[in-house]
Amino acid sequence: MKLGRLNHVGVATPDLEASITFWRDVMGATQIGEPFDMPEQGVRVCFVDTPDGGTQIELLAPLGDGSPISAFLERNPLGGQHHLAFEVPDIIAARIEFEAAGKRVLGPTRIGAHGTPVFFVHPKDMAGVLTEIMETPHAVRR
Ligand code: CO
Repeated sequence: MKLGRLNHVGVATPDLEASITFWRDVMGATQIGEPFDMPEQGVRVCFVDTPDGGTQIELLAPLGDGSPISAFLERNPLGGQHHLAFEVPDIIAARIEFEAAGKRVLGPTRIGAHGTPVFFVHPKDMAGVLTEIMETPHAVRR
């Protein structure tokens, strides 16, 4: 594993519009994407950019019943830091490496919010941090 760029920090929220207002008015974010649904993942997503193509904040709100975010929000009613997402050049090689290292990869590799393949690794195998590994996007989605 060669550590790549920190693409985004996933932040769960019970109220997407309130979080967007917070990032705009309190944190001074000027580049905020349009929220969109990812029904297969059970989340509604909004990306907040930090300047100069830096790391994004991925706001995540539950979508539908049984959203993976719902259990997190039950434990953290205000929302909070949910996962870190690192880029890798080759998602297939990265998955093989994590699995060979005995890390629990959660579910199949699938297309993530940036349109590139991603997988998640269990926080109990990752020093307590739910970790998303994503193939480096060639064009940033807005
Ligand atoms: Co993410």
